[in-house]
Amino acid sequence: MKESATASAPGKVILFGEHFVVSGFPAIVTAIDKRVKIRLTNSVENRFVIVSGQVCSAWSLNGQPVGAKHSPFQALYDMVNAVCRDHGIKCVGRAEIDSEIMGAAGLGSSAAVAVALVKAFSDLHGLELTIDKIIQYAMKAETEFHGRPSGIDPTIAAVGGTIIYHGPGKYMHLATPANPKVLIVFSGKKRKTSKMVNHVQQLARDKPRLFGELTKIYSIIYREAFSAIQKYDVEKIGKLFTMNHLLMRALGLSNESVEKIIEVLAGLGVYGSKLTGAGGGGCVIAVAGENIERIAGEMSKIYPHVWLSQTGCRGVGE
Ligand code: MEV
Repeated sequence: MKESATASAPGKVILFGEHFVVSGFPAIVTAIDKRVKIRLTNSVENRFVIVSGQVCSAWSLNGQPVGAKHSPFQALYDMVNAVCRDHGIKCVGRAEIDSEIMGAAGLGSSAAVAVALVKAFSDLHGLELTIDKIIQYAMKAETEFHGRPSGIDPTIAAVGGTIIYHGPGKYMHLATPANPKVLIVFSGKKRKTSKMVNHVQQLARDKPRLFGELTKIYSIIYREAFSAIQKYDVEKIGKLFTMNHLLMRALGLSNESVEKIIEVLAGLGVYGSKLTGAGGGGCVIAVAGENIERIAGEMSKIYPHVWLSQTGCRGVGE
């Protein structure tokens, strides 16, 4: 066995179809150039330790937390423990998380951590887990963490690029002539994905006709987006962002600060913008023409967290 292994996985932005994907519709998602890195060592003999910045949690060999009972990493530990059980490995080691992805902001940070951790674990122990197996384990952590995830986040963190996602194990890489840059603006409000998913699923149960109409409009937006991305028609992608955002607003996912960001972006000349991820806060994404760098600069003067990101980036790996 090796002494140590490292792995990294990307964050993501959902271009089209968050929430609709939970209800079985296809969504389009892309991997961004912000990554989580995991360094895993077998330096610890009788515990499994997870460290991120100032936060450190440990579990004894029988799976009991050492010290504080409630760890923010419990789902990650349970995932690693499942890998150990399935492969007859003693669950010991130390994992250090080093993340460039803001958490609870719709950028897929928890899934990227889970995917990178399984990959590092697989490499350390020579398990040669396939990408699909890595996604399955990461999905376990995501389900414990978020309740009812569609699986889109661990899938894009593992496979990278830009994909159509249509449920666990059902995805397809989108052939694109180029990958547009996206502007990402954090609204200042973090939120829990599970809460937002429950909100939309409840609305779908309470107002089935309204939800049904929204899904019909979404299906049209999705088809147009599929072809706009394949043609690298960035202006059209922007217009479709705005339409998708209106659906998210109708689902009660927007708020005042998100709408303000969208208004400022429109004033600066983007092609269009939308919430990305679960909503209720989180981040807004936008595309624009050649002036996108200037718009990013202007936005940074107003908002503290603005990123101009590459899309279609590589999935889990070194
Ligand atoms: C999460 O990034 C996006 C949601 O659609 C939830 C999911 O698909 O798991 C809101």
